[in-house]
Amino acid sequence: MSGGGWYRVKRGLPALVVALATVAVLVAAGATGARAGGVPLPEPAKGAGSACVADTAFMRRYHMQMLVHQRRDTVHEGIRTKQFSLKGCIDCHQVKGEDGAPVKVSDGRHFCRSCHDYAAVSIDCFECHASVPEEADQSAAAPDAENEAVAALGAYVHERKTGEGAVK
Ligand code: HEC
Ligand code: HEC
Ligand code: HEC
Repeated sequence: MSGGGWYRVKRGLPALVVALATVAVLVAAGATGARAGGVPLPEPAKGAGSACVADTAFMRRYHMQMLVHQRRDTVHEGIRTKQFSLKGCIDCHQVKGEDGAPVKVSDGRHFCRSCHDYAAVSIDCFECHASVPEEADQSAAAPDAENEAVAALGAYVHERKTGEGAVK
């Protein structure tokens, strides 16, 4: 394909138009939260109350770091402020199933899976932690907050399985 200046101009213009149109379509899809390029975007259910434990945009981006910090402060330092408590997330972000009971993480509608499935993120937190609020849960995980032996186990497991940072 040779093509002089004329060819390049004629060819470049439609390409630019297509590119701009594509951007417009993507922006529109993003604004409605609908679709981008035919792939459904995640639509997490709205949490309870009027606000999250921190700015929503911040939470979207940094919840994993905050959870790890909270866990370290709690398990290692024994600090029990509740701002980024995993139990808190589960309380406010429960999604009810057809029977009116909160769905467990085995259900694709679970809040924590609404994005993770899309982003191909997999977390093992719910092997131990309850994925539904406590009163709705039978599988006791991390029951007594003040139990030192449990906290020590948590610290041990977290270290072995996760190091301090990323968790697989
Ligand atoms: C093998 C079991 C196990 C796994 C897996 C696990 N935890 Fe924990 N976790 C514990 C135990 C035990 C405690 C201590 C109990 C307590 O302090 O309530 C704890 C405490 C915590 C706390 C502090 C208490 C609270 O509710 O805020 C956070 C936060 C936490 N874990 C987050 C996580 C996250 C996030 C993951 C996944 C990335 C995870 N844990 C995976 C067992 C586990
Ligand atoms: C007091 C209730 C409450 C608690 C506790 C809570 N959230 Fe939220 N969360 C909300 C609400 C309400 C929103 C939606 C706010 C909005 O629309 O601006 C939200 C939004 C979010 C979002 C953004 C969702 C989206 O649509 O993009 C994420 C992610 C999130 N929360 C994660 C967490 C995590 C992780 C925890 C635990 C550390 C947590 N939340 C604890 C109420 C809560
Ligand atoms: C608004 C979308 C969204 C929601 C809702 C959400 N997450 Fe995430 N989460 C992500 C994304 C995206 C990543 C990967 C981010 C990265 O790799 O930087 C992630 C990563 C994580 C990680 C780190 C995983 C790893 O292997 O490094 C943890 C832990 C985590 N999320 C916990 C939770 C918990 C617990 C909930 C429910 C309370 C939740 N998330 C809800 C989008 C979300």
